[in-house]
Amino acid sequence: MINSNTLETFSELERLQSEIKRLKRKNYQLESKANSYRKKYLRYHAFFEISSDPFYITTYPGPPTENYPNPRDYLKQWKIIEVNNTATQIMGYSKKQLTSLSLGDIATHNAPKSKQTRSIIKELVNPIEKGQMFSIERDHIDRRGNKIEVEIKGQAVNIGGIKYIASLSRDISDRKKLEKEILKSYRLEKHCRQVLQKEIANRIDFTLALIHELKSPLTPILSSSETLLSREEPDSLNAELARNIYHGAKSLNACISELLDLAKSEISGLTLQRTSLLLNPLLSEIAGELTPYIQSHRQELILDLPEQLPAVLADPERIKQVLRNLLNNAVKYNREKGRITLKAGERDPLITISVHDQGRKIAQKDQLNLFKPYFRCSQDRARTDGLGIGLALSKQLVELHSGEIYIRSVRGKGTTIIFTLPVFSNTGRTSGK
Ligand SMILES: Nc1ncnc2c1ncn2[C@@H]1O[C@H](COP(=O)(O)OP(=O)(O)O)[C@@H](O)[C@H]1O
Ligand SMILES: [Mg+2]
Repeated sequence: MINSNTLETFSELERLQSEIKRLKRKNYQLESKANSYRKKYLRYHAFFEISSDPFYITTYPGPPTENYPNPRDYLKQWKIIEVNNTATQIMGYSKKQLTSLSLGDIATHNAPKSKQTRSIIKELVNPIEKGQMFSIERDHIDRRGNKIEVEIKGQAVNIGGIKYIASLSRDISDRKKLEKEILKSYRLEKHCRQVLQKEIANRIDFTLALIHELKSPLTPILSSSETLLSREEPDSLNAELARNIYHGAKSLNACISELLDLAKSEISGLTLQRTSLLLNPLLSEIAGELTPYIQSHRQELILDLPEQLPAVLADPERIKQVLRNLLNNAVKYNREKGRITLKAGERDPLITISVHDQGRKIAQKDQLNLFKPYFRCSQDRARTDGLGIGLALSKQLVELHSGEIYIRSVRGKGTTIIFTLPVFSNTGRTSGK
């Protein structure tokens, strides 16, 4: 017999059955959702673990509420909620221990507190608030209390509608050590440079003082011997002695002037007084000036100039100085009764000036050093008529004029020193004679 009680039980059963069905459906849905989450988790976890740098996910408490919170207290609100294995290995904690700590427990900074807070706000909070990536350098303290210098790079991530911070912290101790070493060696180098500059300045001061001391007594010797020479009969013994004194003093004077120029070039570089210059008259003048000296050495000077040469932009005194150096060398290192040729020509856009002598060939290896200060070929080192400065100075002077100087030396033919000067393009071709 079916009474009302039985009917109630039936309908209850039906309700329960449909409830069970609904719950089963829900269970199924939840399980597939859980499965999909599990898969996602495994995928992200794999990324997490691939990283050879420690990886952290922390909570984000938002910007500090006070202007100057205690940095440690503030960072204690950044709770570590997830780390990878590298983080646990490097920090020496288990995963459980590390995820019960906060950034305030593992990060430290040597700067004063207010500065730390400022840097946290500027370098960490501000970029996070703007949705940008941050990058800061700090020290992490591992479980044993060792300091690890790290560069932390990270960004805010949204997980289930909540803002977290994901960051990678790279160990930069080696880089920092290297930076310190570089800084140290840079400071050392700077110190050495300063000491060296002081030494050079002292040496230059000394050289300038020495040159002055050497030049002063030469002036009366030069003028007295010249006066004496003009008063004596040219062939007399006294004239011969006066001539020796005069030439000796003049060559000494030239050496001292070279030294002075070299010292000047070391201090501030030589300077030029350039003007538009015609070379024919200048070369003729130098030839005239040196002919008596060349003839007194029983040598001959040939001047080989074209009718006209374009002008150059040059310092006439410095060009004469170069020519005197080259012609003096040609005389000094020429063969007995040798011929010297001073020649000029134009090879657009350059003017070429050469001094040729008939002396010995300069060895190839010496040619490489010829223009270095104080260099003299081995067979000339005992000579007392030079210091090995003339060619070095000539090179500097020619290069100051944007020219080049070089040598050609052939056995049996002698030596030619050639230098070039650029044609002054603003002026037209003008006759030099
Ligand atoms: N025309 C030349 N022929 C041979 N050797 C030369 C000639 N010019 C220069 N030299 C060599 O080059 C050296 C350097 O020349 P230079 O700088 O003028 O110094 P210095 O003439 O005072 O020795 C000379 O000592 C000499 O050995
Ligand atoms: Mg010389």
